[in-house]
Amino acid sequence: MSGNHTPSTQAAVPPERGKAESPILSVRNLRIEFESTGATVFAVRGVSFDLRKGKTLGMVGESGCGKSVTAYSVLRLIQPPGKITGGEINYRGADILRMNPEDVRAIRGREIAMIFQEPMISLNPVFTIGFQISEAVMLRHGKDKKESRGIAVEMLTRVGIPDAEKRYRSYPHELSGGMRQRVMIAIALAASPSILIADEPTTALDVTIQAQILDLLMNIQRERDMSMLLITHDLGIVANTADDIAIMYAGEIVESGTVSQIFNAPMHPYTIGLFEAIPRIGESARRLRTIPGMVPSLTSEPQGCVFYPRCFRRADECRENPIPLVEKNSHLVRCVRA
Ligand SMILES: Nc1ncnc2c1ncn2[C@@H]1O[C@H](COP(=O)(O)OP(=O)(O)O)[C@@H](O)[C@H]1O
Ligand SMILES: [Mg+2]
Repeated sequence: MSGNHTPSTQAAVPPERGKAESPILSVRNLRIEFESTGATVFAVRGVSFDLRKGKTLGMVGESGCGKSVTAYSVLRLIQPPGKITGGEINYRGADILRMNPEDVRAIRGREIAMIFQEPMISLNPVFTIGFQISEAVMLRHGKDKKESRGIAVEMLTRVGIPDAEKRYRSYPHELSGGMRQRVMIAIALAASPSILIADEPTTALDVTIQAQILDLLMNIQRERDMSMLLITHDLGIVANTADDIAIMYAGEIVESGTVSQIFNAPMHPYTIGLFEAIPRIGESARRLRTIPGMVPSLTSEPQGCVFYPRCFRRADECRENPIPLVEKNSHLVRCVRA
């Protein structure tokens, strides 16, 4: 992480309640199931969140908690055996889950773009990177070839690729992982999307490159007033990057609010556990505290709190009924004991 930027939310800025603009993307009660060998996995159960215009929402949780499938749902990219079984994804007054496929395709990559953890999978190995960016420009803006080339070279420069004119003719395998991720960002941004979904965009990269890529995303996001859904398993990453945070655990959002609300007053025992797992300066990785126990497999609808088996604050009442996400201390938390 680079510590260069001061997150606006860490200063004594009052929470932006009251003057609430309607969110650009609003997910309500999203449910995703996977059928596997006769069993149903209830991977995402009733996820709701808002992405505010021009802001970054950091979605945080351990591997397997449902971050990626939630993100894929926004663009209706869930593949069998996965299935969206309920909910709404409201974007500019329409529910993406109920649109016809052509309308979804028209949004995908143009209005809502996505970048993935492993850029090699999404880049086409047989075309130069310049060609791939130009294609994206033409697709969105209907520019001619020459104009698109110019914009593509500009984009390459903008995302920090040195010698862009020359790099335009490179193939994906000729670039380092960090450079490939920059190319992916250039492709995603070539279409001037109003929403960028970044699914663990820096997880595969080393720490220095991670910081550079996050800075880049943040700068472009601010410059263009773009909204960003930034997915990560690392709470440290969202500290400097996000405006809002949603903490996911085992297919549910367990806590959400602004960065300052979550960082100053985390309430869910899982969030508190995640904070304790962030390495501190001078603390060796060996001594890192982790939350004991494992994420449960969700082959049945859980009765009470899904975090119960790992919780340091648990009580019998936590097992009895489903726990709703309710407002406490001016943000949302799914815990009866918080
Ligand atoms: N292809 C698949 N087949 C079966 N189950 C899947 C598949 N992809 C995801 N799942 C289920 O969905 C859950 C959430 O996956 P995912 O969204 O990829 O997690 P995350 O991105 O948070 O690491 C997994 O724990 C698993 O139970
Ligand atoms: Mg994932």
